[in-house]
Amino acid sequence: MTDKTPIAILISGRGSNMAALIEASRAADCPYEVILVASNDPEAAGLDHARAAGIATFAHSHKGLKRGEFDAIIDAALREAGVRFVALAGYMRILSEGFIAGWEGRIVNIHPSLLPKYKGLDTHQRAIEAGDAEGGCSVHVVTPELDDGEVIAQARVPILPGDTPETLADRVLIEEHRLYPDALAAYIRSHG
Ligand code: GRF
Repeated sequence: MTDKTPIAILISGRGSNMAALIEASRAADCPYEVILVASNDPEAAGLDHARAAGIATFAHSHKGLKRGEFDAIIDAALREAGVRFVALAGYMRILSEGFIAGWEGRIVNIHPSLLPKYKGLDTHQRAIEAGDAEGGCSVHVVTPELDDGEVIAQARVPILPGDTPETLADRVLIEEHRLYPDALAAYIRSHG
C-alpha cells in the first residue's frame, strides 16, 4: 500500500515527459504514484515504456468516435482505476468541456512555450520567427480554453543564433523533463 496520490498520464506519442514523471514518482518523497498511462493511439511508443516500467496501460483509438464519446471511454478508465489527478504529456487531443468539468482543477499539461505566448502548435517555429530572445515551457492547469489555464511553473531557455525549431525543441525538452515532475509534485501537494 502507498499513501501517494494516484495519477494517470495521458499520452499520444513517444512519452518522454511521461518517462520523466514515472522516474520522479519513484522517489520516497514524491507525492504522486503513476497508476495508469492511457493513450488515444494504441501504437504510441510511450505505452511500451510504461509497460516496461510495470505500469498499467489503457489504449483506445479515438478514430470514428465523437469527441465526447471518446472522452467518456477515457474518463471511465480513469475512474475505474481510482485516479485522482491527470497529467497530460504530449496528449494530442483537445479534451471536451464535459470531461474537463468532471476533473476540474485536477488536470495539468505541459506546453512547449512561455504561455500566454504561442498556444497551440508550432510553438518553437513561431518563437523563432517572432525574433524572441527566449523560448521555454509551461506547466498549466487545463481549462476548456486551449492552453489557457493558470500557469503553475515555467522554464526559460535562450534562443540562439542559428536555432531551428528542432534544435530549440531539443533544448526546451531537457527543461520540460526537469520542470514537469517538480511542478506536478508541488501542485498535488497543495491541491491533493
Ligand atoms: C512536448 O514537447 C510537450 O511539451 C508537448 O508535446 C511534446 C511531447 O513530447 N505537449 P513527449 O511525448 O513527452 O516526448
